[in-house]
Amino acid sequence: MLVLSIETSCDETAAAVVRDGRTILSSVVSSQVLIHAEYGGVVPEIASRKHLEMISPVISQALRDAGIVMADIEGVAVTRGPGLSGALLVGFSAAKAIAAARKVPFVGVHHIEGHLLAAFLEQPLEFPFLALVVSGGHTHLYHVEGIGRYTTLGRTIDDAAGEAYDKSAKIMGMAYPGGALIDKLSLSGNPAAVALPRPLMHDGTLRFSFSGLKTAVLQHVAKHPLTVPSQELNDLCASFQQAVCDVLAFKTEAALKQTGARRLVVAGGVACNSGLRRRMAQLCDKMQINLSIPAPSLCGDNAAMLAVPGDYYLSNGLASPDSLDVTATWDMDSIKELLP
Ligand code: KG4
Ligand code: ZN
Repeated sequence: MLVLSIETSCDETAAAVVRDGRTILSSVVSSQVLIHAEYGGVVPEIASRKHLEMISPVISQALRDAGIVMADIEGVAVTRGPGLSGALLVGFSAAKAIAAARKVPFVGVHHIEGHLLAAFLEQPLEFPFLALVVSGGHTHLYHVEGIGRYTTLGRTIDDAAGEAYDKSAKIMGMAYPGGALIDKLSLSGNPAAVALPRPLMHDGTLRFSFSGLKTAVLQHVAKHPLTVPSQELNDLCASFQQAVCDVLAFKTEAALKQTGARRLVVAGGVACNSGLRRRMAQLCDKMQINLSIPAPSLCGDNAAMLAVPGDYYLSNGLASPDSLDVTATWDMDSIKELLP
């Protein structure tokens, strides 16, 4: 099946054409990051307006890059949630309109479901597996038994890992979103230079907490004002990155032991992080676990990832009804209740 997929949940307008939920024919991502950087975070109203401006050109580009025309599309997959309602509505309305005009089915997909299945665009994977999803809004461990069959094992009780990266970067004087820059600077820093907490690491659960780590960075910067650039900044970045990776690796190891899973998928924007990729590779090497972390272009927000579940649902008669609406919040565990 030739699926057109569309993503507008936050600050990226994206469209892709994917064959059989596995082969990417095109993937176009138009980022608004520079626009929101000026405000230190995503401004929902601006995001919606920018999506409105970019949605048609991005879809046209995706069709052109794939060497096809709209009439070739056999189904449409689109992010239904979670995300900013106004932003979601732009992609969702476009998807519905295309599906109605072309008389093809459409399906509303969970954004995180796209992230955790993006690895299928690179290689076939076997179920079940453990998934660690780390993004701007999520830090979740899922037991994945099949497409649509997700059980949350643990999640953050406050900030997500990406949120902690971006908020800490802001405290250190970096532009939004600073996650990738902390990663880059940490390569030249000493991870043992600043003593930072590992919140909830030894609480015996699979819960995460990152807001205390951000507060510790704030307190450190208040006591030791930073010069930019400086070795002190690099050291603080490296120490922060080490703390985040310690917690993520520790809890992932605990979840692997608890579930007995033999495969691990790490996904979401923070999965681009060089320290996390290295730590997960070491962990999986030690535990003889099969590890999949998609290439960075498939970890960040993109539309191709939505076509993996999208193609599955459309091919199995699970298209969405015309009346379906977007949703700002959506529990992944509830998806299995919709399956036959
Ligand atoms: O998945 P994503 O693109 O969007 C959401 O669904 O949230 O993730 C974005 C998050 C941001 O917080 C960004 O700072 C973070 O991923 N990120 C990184 C890196 N690249 C992106 N965090 C740490 N290290 C990176 N290299
Ligand atoms: Zn995302």
